[in-house]
Amino acid sequence: MNNPRRKIKSRVFEAEVIPGLESFAIDELHDRFGAEASKVRRVRAGFIRFRFSEPAQLLLALRSVIAVYQVHHFVIPRPKALLGHEHFARLTKILNETAQSFAEPPRTFGIGAAGARTSVMRRLHQALLDKLNLAPAEDGKGELFVRLQPKREAQGWELLIRISQRPLSARAYRVVNMPGSLNATAAYAMTQLESLDNGATVVNLCSGASTILIEQALVQPQHQLIAIDCSETALSAGARNASASGIGHRILHIQADAGQSPLPSHSADRLYADLPFGHHVGSHETNRRLYPAILEEAERLARSRAPFIILTHEVKLLRRCLQQSSWAISSEIRINLRGLHPRVFVLRRNSTRI
Ligand SMILES: C[S@@+](CC[C@H](N)C(=O)[O-])C[C@H]1O[C@@H](n2cnc3c(N)ncnc32)[C@H](O)[C@@H]1O
Repeated sequence: MNNPRRKIKSRVFEAEVIPGLESFAIDELHDRFGAEASKVRRVRAGFIRFRFSEPAQLLLALRSVIAVYQVHHFVIPRPKALLGHEHFARLTKILNETAQSFAEPPRTFGIGAAGARTSVMRRLHQALLDKLNLAPAEDGKGELFVRLQPKREAQGWELLIRISQRPLSARAYRVVNMPGSLNATAAYAMTQLESLDNGATVVNLCSGASTILIEQALVQPQHQLIAIDCSETALSAGARNASASGIGHRILHIQADAGQSPLPSHSADRLYADLPFGHHVGSHETNRRLYPAILEEAERLARSRAPFIILTHEVKLLRRCLQQSSWAISSEIRINLRGLHPRVFVLRRNSTRI
């Protein structure tokens, strides 16, 4: 009988992550897999490589990564050689094996490569579409997706095949997509910044579709979670997503202005806010009123040692508002979210001002 956890030869994988959040993926690999994930290292912004000696399916549980790819090395001078019989046969075998590991047969196929529009790449793509009987991916990636790149510091090319049908960051619980919803891997990282005692009360101001609290609930089940947003549409999206994730009963959704919540003073052990930053949601003008009001309300809600974890792109505005508040920056991380560079701030009460 096949034992899924039987020892297998270690292979090389690459995890794609949000640039700036690489350390969260490295920590998660170590925490989940210990020595089974070895030589874990950041190879460039947004990419982690490691060797893994367990079945690849176990990597699908990672919450901090956008996608995982298995790396295959082809000793060829240029991609045109992949059209030759021997390499093409190996390539289709790799693709077929990965497709068979999916829950459903893939329908679409994409190749990502620097020269994806060259005639050789187009020929290769078409030859593989024909061989696998798949449709071209409209978004360029599709359900079966590979990347091709020259191998660094050695001869040949690398084929990186995504081991899942959809990116891992596209959580199954996200049944309602709101404009401005946070990438779930970034939300997961926010939940990992500080440790939290069991039974703690966690409040998410401007909770939107509740991504942060759902990620919190899925990794640490014992907290009391409260989502506050002024929008009925956002709250209903949050409630539906939470219910799809199986933890719907754990989040209390309250419709209120985040600057004037109905919660008692000094009741929160941790606060979160993925603040509107005027691209998808809100405007700079409304933020100039909202940010000071939220800092003040968070100050009222926070127990003395509670951190306030914020994500925003309005960095100058936040820094200005902080000067008038009792919060001070304890740490900050600059990330790259689809070309925007918001920051995650951990704020703490400045004891001299309390
Ligand atoms: C960037 S979105 C949050 C996205 C959320 N993290 C998610 O993953 O879906 C900001 C949210 O702030 C809410 N918001 C804006 N002004 C608010 C206010 N004064 N009080 C409460 N919520 C507010 C918006 O309705 C929106 O849902």
